[in-house]
This record gives sequence, C-alpha cells and structure tokens, in this order.
Amino acid sequence: MTTKRTSIHGQWSSRWVFVLAATGSAVGLGNIWKFPYITGENGGGAFVLIYLVCIACIGIPIMMAEVMLGRLGRQSPINTMRTLAQEGKHDKRWVWLGWMGVLAGFLILSYYSVIAGWALSYVFRTASGAFMGATADGVSSIFSQFVSNPESVLAWHTIFMVMTMVVVSRGVRGGLEKAVTYLMPALFGILLILVGYAASTTGHFTEGFDFLFNSDFSKITKDSVLTAMGHAFFTLSLGMGAIMIYGSYLPQDASIAKTSIMVSLADTLVALLAGLAIFPIVFANGLEPGSGPGLIFNTLPIAFGHMEGGTFFGTLFFLLLVFAAWTSSISLIEPAVAWLVENHGYNRLNASVWTGIVTWSVGLLTVLSFNEWKFSFPFLGQNKENGFFDIVDILTANIMLPVGGLMIAIYASRFLSRKHSVEELGMGEGDAYKVWHLLVSYVTPIAVIIVLINALNIVPFLKQIF
Ligand code: TRP
Repeated sequence: MTTKRTSIHGQWSSRWVFVLAATGSAVGLGNIWKFPYITGENGGGAFVLIYLVCIACIGIPIMMAEVMLGRLGRQSPINTMRTLAQEGKHDKRWVWLGWMGVLAGFLILSYYSVIAGWALSYVFRTASGAFMGATADGVSSIFSQFVSNPESVLAWHTIFMVMTMVVVSRGVRGGLEKAVTYLMPALFGILLILVGYAASTTGHFTEGFDFLFNSDFSKITKDSVLTAMGHAFFTLSLGMGAIMIYGSYLPQDASIAKTSIMVSLADTLVALLAGLAIFPIVFANGLEPGSGPGLIFNTLPIAFGHMEGGTFFGTLFFLLLVFAAWTSSISLIEPAVAWLVENHGYNRLNASVWTGIVTWSVGLLTVLSFNEWKFSFPFLGQNKENGFFDIVDILTANIMLPVGGLMIAIYASRFLSRKHSVEELGMGEGDAYKVWHLLVSYVTPIAVIIVLINALNIVPFLKQIF
C-alpha cells in the first residue's frame, strides 16, 4: 500500500453518505426538467435508447474513473490533477482539466440557478391555487408572462443562489452532508408519492410510454446523438470535477464500482419516471412535446389544475424539483470553493460568497435571454430561441463535459499507473477490471471523439480552411 492522503476539507461519514451526495448531485434539473424537453425535441424513443447506451458504456466507466482520480488526489480537481501529474511525471498541462472543470461549473450553475429559481417560484404559485381549473392556454400565458419579466426571475435566481451558498459555506460535514441526508430521503419520498398518484390517475399513460420507449430511428440526426451523449455526462454530473471532488471525500474502504453503479441507476430511474409522469399529460392535452425549456412549466400545472388534490401534489412536485436542484447546485460550485480554500487561504464563507457573486452575475445573462435579450441562434439545423442560455448550455453539456470526460478517461487508463488504478478501484485484476479498462481506454474515447467530430462538422470545417 502506498501512503494515502487525507482531504483538508473532511470526509463523508460513510460510503452511504457518498452515495446520497453523488446521487444528489446527479439527480437534478437534468432529470426532471431537461431530460423530458430534450427527449421531446429529439423525437422520443430512439433518443432515449441512445441516451441509455451512453449511460451504460460511457457514463458508468467514466464515473468510476472520476471518483478514482478524486480519491487518489484528495483535493480540488485543479490540485488533484496537478498532484497526480507531478507524481506520475506527466505533462503539467493536465492541470487544465481541473481549470476547464471549474469554468464549466461556473457556466452551468449560472443558468442552473435561474431555472431552479423558476421552480422555486412555481412552488408558491402552485400553492396559491393559481392553476386551479386553468386551461392549457392559461397555464402557458402564466409561464410566458413570468419569464418575460426579468425582475421577478432575477429575484428567484438570487434566492436560489443564496440557498446554495449557505450550504456550501458550511463545509463538507456541516453543509453538504447535512443537506443531502435531509433532502434526499425527502426527494425520494415525494417522488414515490407522485408516481403512485400519476399511475392511478393518468389517462394517456400508454401514449406517453410509447413515446419514451418506441424507437423510431428516422428521427435521429447527428446532433441528437451529440445531445444524448452530452446529456449522459450532464445528468451524471461528469466531466467537470464535481464527482471528482465528491470522490475526494470518499472513505478509503468504499467500493468505487458499486457506489458508481448505484448512483447511475438511481439517476436513470428518476429521469425515466419523470418522463413517464410528464408525457402522458403532454398528449392528453394535445401539447407539443418539442416545445423546449418551458415544457414542464407549461404542462404539469394543467394536470395539477384539474386533479383532486392537485394544489397539494403540484406544490409537492415543484418542491421536489427545488430539492433536486439544490443538492446538484452545491456540487457545481464545490470544486471552485475548495480551490479558493486550498490555494488562496480563503475561509469557506468568503470563498462561497465570492464564487456566488461571480456565478450570480453570469446568470443575469440567462435571465435576460428569455426576455430583453432574446435572440435566435441556429445550431446544426435547430433554431434555438434563447441565444445566451442555449449557447452556454450547448457549449457546456455538449462540448466541455464530453471533452472533460474524455480527458479523465484517457488519464485514468493511459497515464495513471496500473498499480494505482487496480489498488484504488479495489476489484482485483480480473474480468471486471479488464472490462472497465477496455471501456475507458478504447470504447469511451473513440465514441466521444467520433460523436464530437461528426456533430460539430469538424472535418468539413477543416477542409474549408485548408
Ligand atoms: N447532474 C445534475 C442534473 O442532472 C447537474 C449537475 C450537477 C452537473 N453537478 C454537475 C452537471 C456537474 C454537470 C457537471 O441536474
């Protein structure tokens, strides 16, 4: 055994807390808000199938690699990569992987907090009975009036950002761990209640089910494959160091493979359940599945407005969404906060305040991209309407996270010594290890590179230049 480092930020009380925290990071707006609307935009079943294949063949092996690097380095991703590269006598530039992660985290959280703010405002709007008996038109005009008013969206964005920073400022045990141990059981409880309720009351369940699981590959384009792969990274929180830093707080005796698989399964289950709850309502009301980021805000309130107990269950649903977003947003900023503490001697409170202010400010641009500063942006055949928001979303989820994940896979399989990876993964050198190694050294890198080159039209672009 080599001597093991410990993290100056502390450690989870047990491997179960890690599973809760990593599941908390993974399960978020990505599952409940984004997965349904991008599935709608990309035609349903075939997209879902590609997404599931990406989770299994790319997501799980990279999650194991990311947790492993984190636990080996036991620092913020920037310093973890610096230390591992130094010790292994590798190129110093591996530290850029950490930097890109911090940047991606800022960018993602900047818009994530705005959408979480929408959800927060819908908790109160639903509780006040605003949707009682509302028609589809009524519900969508409530939504469009809300997002077209920058002041109120800004206020909710601010509240959510403060909520995030309060947790992060309290540290690993006192903040992150406490939050996930209360919020995650509540989240699962609410989800179960809602699914039970939906299963017993929905009319168009089979239509929704077919939309999600009947694969019609004629609807698939190069960019839907890129979106599916990008979403696999996004939903599992991979490729930017969030899972790496959570791994750096993982007790030494916990199994990386088992915990990673558990987290991925839980995350996938939540996304599919959310889809099963949402699409039946879309079809029952003759709504458009491809209507974009407003999908759940335009559909679910219709159902809540007409069901028995809808005000109660609707409020519960948006509360679930806020909890899910909250346990994710803390992981998006933790790498930057940990780095400020490690390298600049900030205490956690100051580090949280400063990172919060920066992210909040960038978020203003997303707030405006739904009203004052709305501009169209053509992206590979799709016309995106909310310029800044869409650009940041595509840049992070479809490009930065896959590139980050690719680098993690390459580092873990080709640079890190076999001795280290065998010892850290702790599953021996048998078949399980070999499968993992094959996936991260060949399958994942090749798949990610092909999808990126294809969708981003890199080859025709290069031909044009030369
Ligand atoms: N996975 C979260 C979701 O699905 C979002 C998230 C949290 C995330 N941490 C991340 C995405 C790190 C990418 C990287 O909502």
